Amino acid sequence: MTRGKFIAFEGGEGMGKSTQAHLLAEYLREHGQTVVLTREPGGTPGAEAIRSLLLSPPGEGWTREAEALLFAAARADHVARKIRPAIDDGHWVICDRFLDSSRAYQGEGGDLGDGTIRQLHDIASGGLLPHLTIVLNAGADDVAHRLTERDAGQTDAIGGRAEDYHKTVNAAFLDFAAAEPERFVIINGAGSIEDVHERVLIATEPLLKAKA
Ligand code: TYD
Repeated sequence: MTRGKFIAFEGGEGMGKSTQAHLLAEYLREHGQTVVLTREPGGTPGAEAIRSLLLSPPGEGWTREAEALLFAAARADHVARKIRPAIDDGHWVICDRFLDSSRAYQGEGGDLGDGTIRQLHDIASGGLLPHLTIVLNAGADDVAHRLTERDAGQTDAIGGRAEDYHKTVNAAFLDFAAAEPERFVIINGAGSIEDVHERVLIATEPLLKAKA
């Protein structure tokens, strides 16, 4: 059987990842593919339970090491129970965030370093990587506007961190993409939802045409 393709959407807060992941899944379904649309942290009952622990931490919150381990544990369950089986069965998997979020937020923002995050991923998820990782990048004004509309003043334990933390995270995604251009594409997230979707389709086209 032809193995499926795995695409991850990445980027900082308010870049429009979820919207674009939905639109791409819809497009692929209309073109005859079966698609599993999923997200991190989450995607399975176990990983969704860990998501709640991460985004609304009990007590005084997690140490940076515990936080990275919880993300890796959630991903391990998600990969083993949902992502790998779907790819093996020939489905496309579209995931809203994946490993590179841990690299950017915990590795760079949280200062644990890339080696540690990758090591955790090797242990927890056999080092699985997407075929393509789309980094959405938009200017500060667009993002501030989207976040105000979406969050209405409410945010979670990670989204609510200091501006400097998020600057480091956003820069990290661009650095990762520059370091591994064969695995990443950076897409300009400015403009209308339709404009950005068009750019996503252009970036995805080679994968649609490629044989497994
Ligand atoms: P998400 O629900 O995708 O939030 P947003 O819509 O703001 O992108 O993700 C929840 C938060 O978890 C988000 O602030 C990013 C963070 N996160 C990490 O810190 N590490 C990770 O590995 C993942 C997957 C997410």
